[in-house]
Amino acid sequence: MKILTVVGARPQFIKAAAVSREIRRRHDEVLVHTGQHYDEEMSDVFFDELGIPEPDDNLGVGSDSHGAQTAEMLAGLENRIAAETPDAVLVYGDTNSTLAAAIATSKMDPALAHVEAGLRSYNREMPEEINRVLTDHAADLLFAPSRRAVENLRAEGVTEGVHEAGDVMYDAVLWARDRAKDHSTILAELGVESGEYVLATVHRAANTDDPKRLAAILDALADDSREVVLPAHPRTVNRMREYGMYDDATEKLTLIDPVGYLDFVRLQDEADVVATDSGGVQKEAFFLDTPCVTMREETEWRETVEAGWNTLVGADDDAIRRALTTAERPADKPEPYGDGTAAATITDLLDDV
Ligand code: UD1
Ligand code: UDP
Repeated sequence: MKILTVVGARPQFIKAAAVSREIRRRHDEVLVHTGQHYDEEMSDVFFDELGIPEPDDNLGVGSDSHGAQTAEMLAGLENRIAAETPDAVLVYGDTNSTLAAAIATSKMDPALAHVEAGLRSYNREMPEEINRVLTDHAADLLFAPSRRAVENLRAEGVTEGVHEAGDVMYDAVLWARDRAKDHSTILAELGVESGEYVLATVHRAANTDDPKRLAAILDALADDSREVVLPAHPRTVNRMREYGMYDDATEKLTLIDPVGYLDFVRLQDEADVVATDSGGVQKEAFFLDTPCVTMREETEWRETVEAGWNTLVGADDDAIRRALTTAERPADKPEPYGDGTAAATITDLLDDV
């Protein structure tokens, strides 16, 4: 069987690495990179360290408005799918690369398979929410990471081809945790000690593109008594410069370039607490037993909040300050996202295409 996998953004390289390792044991895989992320530290670094083969094709689409970016990907992917004639096209998550591949595939022969199906924030202002809903409604095979994701789909009338497969990011973290411990030198490089720093990321459009929200987040982080390590997404750096917040942030925070996956897993594993607006980071913190403060009003990963490991604080500076100082590790942790073998389950289910 031939699978054409589409990736384009940082979290997709990490998820696809976990699944590709399984897929390539028994299927042919063609890996197409849309080029949505292109900086060395947003793209190449993951191919180098996760042992994924270089993409067979990079469409080189780059950054643009949502419509222009998605349209260019759509045309490029349609060509690739027509040329490769795969049995299935495999897409991940909720980015514009996901949506472009979903639209292209849904009007062609191959089956569309969606990893991370059924997630909902129920916030239609998020571009990712639109991407998720449209992709799920176009998909033939839907790999849901949790029971709730299956239920979310059912509530929208999507029941055919739906499988509770577990979360591939759990597989990814299990693969990386000990490797990171053995190989990453990031703690020493930054001069931070286990349990004594906060690890933060911010990149969600609603936070970066609103100066008030970005200022509230940066102020609250700067006020924490612990060292705050912030590997900054290029989007966030651009906005900080535009709003005149960059110099102050460099002074008060340990502002660094984005780091590779093993370094980031290592930083999450040893942080006292994680503060983020990322989807993936909320979950990874949970898998790594690190409490998380989520700087959003809602989350698709509600199970982490219900279990007491994640606190939603929006971009309210006082709420962020408070949550950072009170975050604790609950005594128990449920396993709502499977047991870390989602990649094998997905590969088995792809056999049925
Ligand atoms: C995208 C996804 C988001 C995901 C995130 C992962 C969409 C709508 N959003 O957001 O769901 O959480 O990726 O990180 O698909 N840029 C660079 N270099 C790069 C990539 C981006 O400088 O390699 C800058 C550009 O100025 C660009 C901006 O970042 O305009 C935003 O990039 P884009 O890919 O449009 O969205 P993300 O914010 O990365
Ligand atoms: N990540 C990384 N280096 C960083 C920041 C994040 O490797 O400097 C990884 C992180 O471990 C997670 C993924 O990137 O696996 C999350 O991506 P991001 O926050 O960009 O996107 P989201 O998950 O919100 O879509």
